[in-house]
Amino acid sequence: MDLAKIIPFYGGVNPELFEIERRCMDRENKVISYLDKALPNGKILDVGAGNGYTAEKLIFEKRTVIAMEPDEKMVDTKKKLVWSRGVAQKIPFHSNTFDAMYSTWAFFFDGIADIDEGLNEVERVVKDDGKIIIVDNYGNDEFTSYSPHDITSSVSDWVRRGYDYEIIDTEFIFDSIEEARRLLTFYFGEPGNQVNKKRIEYKVVAYTK
Ligand SMILES: C[S@@+](CC[C@H](N)C(=O)[O-])C[C@H]1O[C@@H](n2cnc3c(N)ncnc32)[C@H](O)[C@@H]1O
Repeated sequence: MDLAKIIPFYGGVNPELFEIERRCMDRENKVISYLDKALPNGKILDVGAGNGYTAEKLIFEKRTVIAMEPDEKMVDTKKKLVWSRGVAQKIPFHSNTFDAMYSTWAFFFDGIADIDEGLNEVERVVKDDGKIIIVDNYGNDEFTSYSPHDITSSVSDWVRRGYDYEIIDTEFIFDSIEEARRLLTFYFGEPGNQVNKKRIEYKVVAYTK
């Protein structure tokens, strides 16, 4: 695996904060419900699977999910999943292997790496009639309004690449305001400390092809 292609992510070195993120972000699992309906049966690839939170909820007897994650500190071997180490830019599978692929908040290469390099690989390993779903931040919501930087995905770039898109209205739901402040301050600095509620509006976008 080409280690230089791994985009650093905090979850492996700060599992306590990542636990808050995973528990509170889209707490009602609207993204997982969307994926469950949209994905076919068969062999599915999760690119940048993190600790396997999403993958383990999408598996059933007719659907296998391979959780591909390059950062060994993220991999949760306690989960009953088939794991693969690999980066989106060089996927360690033969062409036309998968009936579908999805990625949740891991196709964040814009400005960091070449997103089309990853997409070319995804299109290679997914069968011609297979489905590709990329989930990311939509923006125009309360969550991203706290960020001093633009952390939204570019809808126009995905449309130009030939993808359709659907917006999923969800929320971060924290157990306490302190917990909300802790995570959002980590993400955004001082603006995150201004949060004074437990539920934060969050718009997610699913790009599909
Ligand atoms: C924001 S986390 C999302 C994790 C998981 N998909 C989820 O929804 O909880 C991004 C993940 O992408 C992984 N990652 C980093 N560089 C990558 C790359 N080049 N290809 C695929 N995944 C990568 C990180 O290690 C991290 O686990």
